[in-house]
Amino acid sequence: MLNVKDLNTYYGAIHALKGVSIQVNEGEIVSLIGSNGAGKSTLVNTIAGLLKPRSGSIEFEGKSIFRMEAYNLLKEGISLSPEGREVFGSLTVEENLKLGAYIIKDPKQINDSFEYVYELFPKLKERKGQYAGTLSGGEQQMLAIARSLMGRPKLLLLDEPSLGLAPNIVSQIFELIQQISKEGITILLIEQNAFMALKTSDRAYVLENGVVSLEGPSKDIINDDKVREIYLGI
Ligand SMILES: Nc1ncnc2c1ncn2[C@@H]1O[C@H](COP(=O)(O)OP(=O)(O)OP(=O)(O)O)[C@@H](O)[C@H]1O
Ligand SMILES: [Mg+2]
Repeated sequence: MLNVKDLNTYYGAIHALKGVSIQVNEGEIVSLIGSNGAGKSTLVNTIAGLLKPRSGSIEFEGKSIFRMEAYNLLKEGISLSPEGREVFGSLTVEENLKLGAYIIKDPKQINDSFEYVYELFPKLKERKGQYAGTLSGGEQQMLAIARSLMGRPKLLLLDEPSLGLAPNIVSQIFELIQQISKEGITILLIEQNAFMALKTSDRAYVLENGVVSLEGPSKDIINDDKVREIYLGI
């Protein structure tokens, strides 16, 4: 479904992605783990069109999306829930969600999207009139994920959905990820919580200093000695 080959992305002189290749097949949950600064956000932000790569190729459903604008990528079916949530605090829950549906013109389809996300996130429905800035951290994260689903993507890119959340909320987020996957949405998941990510995903990539250092079925990666020592601390 998503085919990234030999991708190079720079920030000025900083070579952040050094020939990264990853593949995500339809229906999979694929996780991307790695230390702080490894290039995980750079990779998903490049796929989502927020950063322009210097070279390589990115194909989605057989079509090149290399250097395509973020706005058009949502139309192709790719949606990003960015690191750090980035919900609009002075807008209500409902207004935030509506922004996620900006590519949809038909009011009935927008209503369907609201129904769809309110079913997945009943708490957001209860709080639809509340300012997003007054939601708890976990609720804001739910809102960010819900907003990225409003455009009904085929591929969801989740950048650190569990960051900074209490353990019980973290498990709720991972349950939701599985539920979203069962709805037929393909997921590329970035996580600091490598253990939960590997438990939840089908396959995984380990990124180190802008290079893929290991890849394979998550059940194999979780048993890799180096991964256990560096990322799982066991
Ligand atoms: N806007 C920027 N300008 C310059 N360098 C940047 C910029 N954003 C990221 N970098 C650098 O690129 C490298 C990769 O950063 P990136 O944010 O992709 O890491 P990450 O794997 O997502 O880390 P984290 O787990 O901390 O979120 C880092 O060395 C970082 O300092
Ligand atoms: Mg990051």
